[in-house]
Amino acid sequence: MAKWFYDEWHTFDGRSIDQITAQLSDNLNRHSLPITFVAHENLEIMGTVSLDISDLPEFDCYSPWLSSLYVHEGHRGKGVASTLVSHLKHFACSGGVTPLYLWTPGSTSLYERLGWFEISRRSYRYKDITIMSYAGLHGCSVHSVAQLLR
Ligand SMILES: CC(C)(COP(=O)(O)OP(=O)(O)OC[C@H]1O[C@@H](n2cnc3c(N)ncnc32)[C@H](O)[C@@H]1OP(=O)(O)O)[C@@H](O)C(=O)NCCC(=O)NCCS
Repeated sequence: MAKWFYDEWHTFDGRSIDQITAQLSDNLNRHSLPITFVAHENLEIMGTVSLDISDLPEFDCYSPWLSSLYVHEGHRGKGVASTLVSHLKHFACSGGVTPLYLWTPGSTSLYERLGWFEISRRSYRYKDITIMSYAGLHGCSVHSVAQLLR
């Protein structure tokens, strides 16, 4: 996974494989943040997404963040990313941690289809990005991120 992230994003975020590996190790949690989820078929990882406390320094007033959504090339276009995002939303919602945030330099269609809406457009590291939010499921209680940090 670190190699996937490096190949996809290192020209943008400048992180080394070791830095990415260390960050992923911090995310090896089951019930608390930060946390990384994987979609897999038997032992093969098809894709991954994380729920992080911080992802965009300028917007640290918002938290938590959906980040590092990635589906391996051979598994794209089959709904894996949609399933991962839905799982993350349910995890956060069942822990009472909403709203959620994400930023993307690319298409917003996938997220919009899954109930996210645009809250801001910015320039970050010379790229135009869209910041989006997910308000929560109907009936979802809203508490603080501290609940999942315990
Ligand atoms: C974006 C990505 C996660 C989609 O994974 P996937 O499993 O093929 O997605 P799904 O099958 O669930 O849904 C496909 C949708 O993703 C959209 N999509 C494709 N590339 C995208 C991108 N870079 N950013 C956002 N959405 C994208 C498609 O338009 C499609 O939307 P539609 O059904 O409304 O047309 C995958 O292409 C990927 O890993 N790309 C490289 C990393 C990346 O760009 N991550 C997103 C960072 S914000």
